[in-house]
Amino acid sequence: MQNEKRRIFSGIMPSGNLHLGNYLGALKNWVALQDDYENYYCIVDLHALTVPQDPKVLRVKIRELAAIYLACGIDPEKSVVFRQSRVSGHAELAWLLNCVAKVGELSRMTQFKDKASKGGTDSASVGLYDYPVLQAADVLLYNAHLVPVGEDQRQHLELMRTLARRFNGLYGETFVVPDIFVPEAGARVMALDEPTTKMSKSSPTPASYIALLDDPDVVRRKIRRAKTDSRSEVKASPDKPAIANLLGIYAAMTGRKVAEIEAEYEGRGYGDLKKDLAEVVVEGLAPIRERALALLDDPAELDALLDRGAAKAREVADTTLHDARAKLGLD
Ligand code: AMP
Ligand code: TRP
Repeated sequence: MQNEKRRIFSGIMPSGNLHLGNYLGALKNWVALQDDYENYYCIVDLHALTVPQDPKVLRVKIRELAAIYLACGIDPEKSVVFRQSRVSGHAELAWLLNCVAKVGELSRMTQFKDKASKGGTDSASVGLYDYPVLQAADVLLYNAHLVPVGEDQRQHLELMRTLARRFNGLYGETFVVPDIFVPEAGARVMALDEPTTKMSKSSPTPASYIALLDDPDVVRRKIRRAKTDSRSEVKASPDKPAIANLLGIYAAMTGRKVAEIEAEYEGRGYGDLKKDLAEVVVEGLAPIRERALALLDDPAELDALLDRGAAKAREVADTTLHDARAKLGLD
């Protein structure tokens, strides 16, 4: 049966501080799915380069991300863990797909428009513009069936499916058209200080996110100080984005329904909810933090694990790339 397992591919950029949104939107689900699929969990370091990175910091962040993957429960016996830049097929397939992707399609990507608008579109890197094509190459290279990600990746996944279908239509069946997996709870965790914007790794305000490596007391403080809505009733509604976010985090961390949690806090205020939520989050994250810090004590072992992962990934990637080249007349 081993060979009949369907494949998963997903990745996270080794930039900024991994946070609760990354955990609930992505990592937690990767771990839950890992027994039923053949998994490729990648550290997408080439994607990180689409905005300027300090090489010294990037090196540290790559290992940190590997440690966090493992600490969250990704098991290297069940999942291939590797760095994107160590499998040259990612960049090569991205080029082949660049030649079927359209300027209009990439220009419509909201993530590009948001990120590029910050420093002016003219000075955004070409890499930032091309980011979704490299992402498509990541997944198609492994003929993955399922891509577990947070809500913000929906548009990129749609483009990926379009590119796979277009290539197959033009040159013959080559790629699996992947499905997206977005969790029911935790797919869009919002910033603690501004619940109308997404919790983000690149935020300059640490109070806006709970980092997976935050000390438990820091976690408690950040939740205590999280923005609240007017009226103290503990009920999620569109006009109460702050409480809706806290309830959403609570639900995603515990696997309970928001309505059930609301009922439990009926007649009680925010203060109680925040206090309990802080303990729920600390209890969930503290073991991850401890394991990650312990793993980081042995960087050579992490590097060796990533090298072994890359060797396995290359075998699959080479086969797909060979096929894609042949279909294009490059054999
Ligand atoms: P990134 O931080 O952009 O590298 O995202 C890595 C993964 O985490 C992707 O699957 C994202 O969809 C997911 N993710 C990022 N931010 C959030 C968030 N605030 N809520 C839920 N998922 C998120
Ligand atoms: N773009 C994704 C993000 O920012 C990261 C990513 C790169 C990815 N390649 C991928 C996610 C392939 C899933 C599959 O979150």
